[in-house]
Amino acid sequence: MGDIRYDGRVAVITGAGNGLGRSYARYLAARGARVVVNDLGGGTDGEGNDSRAADTVVAEIRGAGGEAVPNYDSVATAEGGESIVNTALETYGRVDIVINNAGILRDTSIPKMSSDNFDILIDVHLKGAFYVTQPAFRVMKQNAYGRVLYTTSAAGLFGNFGQANYAAAKMGLVGLSSVTAIEGAKYNIRSNVIAPIARTRLTEELMGAMGDAFAPEFITPMVAYLVSEECEYSHEIFNAGAGRYARVFVGSAPGWTAPDGETPDVEMIRDNLERISSTEGFTIPANAMEA
Ligand code: NAI
Repeated sequence: MGDIRYDGRVAVITGAGNGLGRSYARYLAARGARVVVNDLGGGTDGEGNDSRAADTVVAEIRGAGGEAVPNYDSVATAEGGESIVNTALETYGRVDIVINNAGILRDTSIPKMSSDNFDILIDVHLKGAFYVTQPAFRVMKQNAYGRVLYTTSAAGLFGNFGQANYAAAKMGLVGLSSVTAIEGAKYNIRSNVIAPIARTRLTEELMGAMGDAFAPEFITPMVAYLVSEECEYSHEIFNAGAGRYARVFVGSAPGWTAPDGETPDVEMIRDNLERISSTEGFTIPANAMEA
C-alpha cells in the first residue's frame, strides 16, 4: 500500500498554535494538505489572545515547504466558527478536514465550580466544535467529502476529580460526533473522536518526568489516519498515548426483561440486578433506533 497523503485537501485545525494541534498541522502539511492554523493564542484558562501562536506554526510549516494560513478567531462563538471556515474557503476554496482540537481548563470541584467556569468550558470545547463543524459540514455535504475529528478525554469518558465542566463538555463531543457520523454517512463525511494523552502545556505539571514518553507526536499518526481519505471508520472513539492505540466504545448489554405484560416493582429490579448490570453479551449499537 502507498503512502497516505493529503494533496488537494484543505484542513482546518483549531487550537493548532500549541501542543497537539501544532503537531497535527505540521504533519498534515508535510504530507500535502493546505492547513488553516486556527489559534486564539490565550492562556491555558482561556484568558487573553495573541496572534503569535498561530503565526509561529504557519511560519514553521511554510519554512518546511508546506502551505498554511493563520486564523486568530475564538471557536467559542458562531461568528468565530464561520470566520475560521471562511478563511479556508477564501484562501483555498474548499474544506475537507476539520480537527476540533482547541481547548482550555478551569478545574475546581463541584461545590466550588462557578457558573462562569462551567459555561466557558462548554463554550470552547462543545459549542466551539459545533460552531466550526456546522459551516464546514455544509460545504462537505456539497462536495460529498469530509473528515471530521473531535477531541474527547479520559476525564470525559471515565470521569476525573475536579473536572465536572471539562468532562461534561468532552462527553458531549462524543454525542456530537455520533450524529455527525450518522448525518454525514450518505455524503462520504466521516466523523470520529480521539481521546489523547500527551505532554503539552495543559498537562505538563501533572506528568512531570514521566512526560518524556508522552510526546504529542505519538497521537498524530492516529489522528492523521482518521482524517485520511482511506479511513473507512466513522462513529468511533480511539484512545492514543505514549505509543498505545485502542478503541473505546459505548456498548449495551442484553440485561433483564420483565415478564410479558408485567410492570415490575422496585423489588423486582433489586432481585434482578445481577443480570441488569452484567456486561456479558454486549453489542455496540449503530444508532438510537438499534439500541
Ligand atoms: P494546548 O494548550 O497545548 O493547546 C490548545 C490550544 O487551543 C492552545 O494553543 C489554545 O490557545 C487554543 N485555544 C484555546 N481556546 C481557544 C479558542 N476559544 N479558540 C481557538 N483556540 C483556542 O493543549 P493540548 O494538550 O494540545 O490540547 C488539545 C486538545 O486535546 C484539547 O481539546 C484538550 O482538552 C485535549 N486533550 C488533551 C490531553 C493531553 O493529555 N494533552 C488529554 C485529553 C484531551
